[in-house]
Amino acid sequence: MKIRGSNIVVTGCAGFIGSHLTDALLAMGNQVVGVDNLSAGRREFLENAEGYAEFRFVQADLLSDDLRSLFKGADTVMHMAANPDVRSGAKDTLSHYRQNIEVTYRVLEAMKDAGVKDLVFPSTSTVYGEPTVIPTPEEYGPLVPISVYGATKLACEALICSYAHSFDMGAVMFRFANVVGTRSTHNVLHDFAAKLKADPGRLEILGSEPGTTKSYVHVEDCVRGMVIGAEYARNKVEMFNLGSDDRMSVKDIADTVIDVMGLDGVRYEWTGGVQGGRGWIGDVKNMLLASDKLRSYGWEPTMNSPQAIRRAVRDIVGRSD
Ligand SMILES: NC(=O)c1ccc[n+]([C@@H]2O[C@H](COP(=O)([O-])OP(=O)(O)OC[C@H]3O[C@@H](n4cnc5c(N)ncnc54)[C@H](O)[C@@H]3O)[C@@H](O)[C@H]2O)c1
Repeated sequence: MKIRGSNIVVTGCAGFIGSHLTDALLAMGNQVVGVDNLSAGRREFLENAEGYAEFRFVQADLLSDDLRSLFKGADTVMHMAANPDVRSGAKDTLSHYRQNIEVTYRVLEAMKDAGVKDLVFPSTSTVYGEPTVIPTPEEYGPLVPISVYGATKLACEALICSYAHSFDMGAVMFRFANVVGTRSTHNVLHDFAAKLKADPGRLEILGSEPGTTKSYVHVEDCVRGMVIGAEYARNKVEMFNLGSDDRMSVKDIADTVIDVMGLDGVRYEWTGGVQGGRGWIGDVKNMLLASDKLRSYGWEPTMNSPQAIRRAVRDIVGRSD
């Protein structure tokens, strides 16, 4: 897939990962049309992008606005927009269905009609559910997601495969581990930092000690991996896991937040969680991806999970909001 000197549409361009991706694509000399409805994204995340003449921002809703005119003349769509909140899926199933499956269907239809040939899609480790093989390779199956979010992303993967084969498109999909870093707006790090700012003596933690263990990847490594994977993809449909090679428990994360905030003697109060210690319904207990395929193309994360988490916490704690 060619992503240098190309015309690229980035949906969800004002979001956490989408804004970093937009910056990277512009720095590589691409023309970028960024689309976002600003429901979760922030215009300020596009400050760097808006300094480029090659960037155009369009505020539009992928669920209702005409996408054909937006996609006309594009070589590639990088479809980053979604409802990425795993936890909300047990309460609001419709949002995941509409923002993930329906929007992806609309994106694919508009690509077909506008003649756009290539799609890059961010999927997730949650499509694996609770795999018996860890680290989990791309070939693992059957895929049995335990969250509505994971299920809707898996449905998107299947739709994308079918469009690639039916309508002569190319697709590169990435199953991300948990992505952390600058411009993130919600995750366990924000949750802990906010609670500790409000009460530095105690920390309520969802789940049972030591909590789930998962792999974390820094957004800079994530975006670099996406570019490398997309550039080297050779097959009509290519799937890459993208994560670091190690895991951290929720307790390790709490320890890191407390250390970075310079606190001492904080009392941990575990809630016990749901379904035998999960933080919430749909929360996978153990996650570690085998990213050897992407590594074979030369990608290497510059930070492991503890390094990525520490840097992300520093960023959050140092923030004015
Ligand atoms: N953050 C992670 O750890 C993670 C892990 C796995 C996969 N992903 C996937 O990566 C992608 C980006 O995630 P993120 O964490 O940056 O999320 P984010 O919420 O920060 O970004 C999503 C962006 O999409 C926009 N958007 C949502 N619905 C829209 C609509 N109908 N029309 C137009 N814009 C819309 C939002 O305003 C937001 O700017 C998502 O597809 C997510 O599922 C993220």
